[in-house]
Parts: sequence; structure tokens; C-alpha cells
Amino acid sequence: MKFFIDTANLNEIKEAEALGILDGVTTNPSLMAKEGISGEQNIINHYVAICNLVDGPVSAEVISVDFEGMVKEGEKFAALHKNIVVKVPMTVDGVKAIKYFSSKGIKTNCTLVFSAGQAILAAKAGATMVSPFIGRIDDSNWDGVQLIEQIVHIYRTYNFKTEVLAASIRSGLHIVKCAEAGADIATCPLSSIKNLFKHPLTDIGLAQFLADYKKVNG
Ligand code: G3P
Repeated sequence: MKFFIDTANLNEIKEAEALGILDGVTTNPSLMAKEGISGEQNIINHYVAICNLVDGPVSAEVISVDFEGMVKEGEKFAALHKNIVVKVPMTVDGVKAIKYFSSKGIKTNCTLVFSAGQAILAAKAGATMVSPFIGRIDDSNWDGVQLIEQIVHIYRTYNFKTEVLAASIRSGLHIVKCAEAGADIATCPLSSIKNLFKHPLTDIGLAQFLADYKKVNG
């Protein structure tokens, strides 16, 4: 399972990269805005800065909602760096744009996916990755992890090459459940990744080992 970090914060990306377990980065317009990144050139510079920090896929999301606009933006993003993945929303124009990018060899991440039907459309259009938002599904009292299981089952049945990228992760448990469900990738806040390290028995065990060492070694 690959780990992506879901942030546009350069310090968090550096911290996750330093852990040695990071495979890529996803961003979205809300995460960019949270970092105060605005204006076309600043946005572009920020994507390049992220690509220079991590040797793996970096999702850059289009803000256009029409096919022509998405193509223009996506081609510009893709030309920035070999690791850019163009993030495209699950809409009619978005699916057409994914098909276009796929025919040009440009990688895509189909975002805002909330159903298996949407995931099938994205795969048929040739999306490189599909992003079901599991946390937001849980928030609406449905089961986000169950959607991951369903999509993984369908993709394996039909041998779709699209990778299942579990997004909107809220906890370490979400990551583990998505791994069990067969997600290819989880994109997570840094806090959820760090949460995986924690176990009280690890802390107790380490304290005991150090205390025993001290007893005989001073
Ligand atoms: O990658 C999509 C993700 O950022 C959405 O997460 O927490 O805003 O639902 P969230």
C-alpha cells in the first residue's frame, strides 16, 4: 500500500518525507487556500516546490469546470514536472477530460468520488487513480470503507488498471481499514500517519528494556 500525504503544507511534506515512508502528495484547492497560496504563478511555483521535495506522484487539481478549461489547465500542470498528476473532478466534463489526458499519456486522479458507479466511469475513461472520499461518506452516515471494498472488487473483476486512492482519511484506523479493503493508496493528513506509530505497549516495553539495561550497565 502506498502512502500519500494530503496537504499543501511544505513543512508537513518535509516531515512525512523524512519518515522514509512517503510515496506521493495530494492537494486540492481548499488545502492550497489553507496555506494562503493564491494567484496562478504562486500556485504553479508551489506545485514545483512540492515536486522538488518528494519523488512521487503530486496531484494538482484543476479549478475549471468545463472540458476546454480543464484540458488547458491540466496540460499546463503536467508540463511542470514529470510527477504531476492532474486532479479532475467527477463530472461529465471531468470524465471527458480524463479520457483526453489518458490518450495523451498524462496521469490523472479523479476526485470527489462517492459511489461505485462514478468509480467505474473514471476507470473506463482511463483515470490513473480514483479518489473515493471515505471520511465525508462516514460523515453522512454511510460506510466509506465499504465503498473502497466495492470499488476494489469491481476493478479486480474487470482488471481495470486505475489505482484506488482512499481519500478524506480521518484516522490511523481509516488507513488500516483501507489497507484491509485492498486500497492501492491512502492519502492522509500527517496526523493520521503519525497515529500509526502509537501503541502504549510499545512505550511500556521500551521503558522496561531501557530500565533493565540501566540496572546492569549503570
Ligand atoms: O484528498 C481529498 C481530501 O483532501 C478530502 O479530505 O478531510 O476535506 O474530507 P477532507
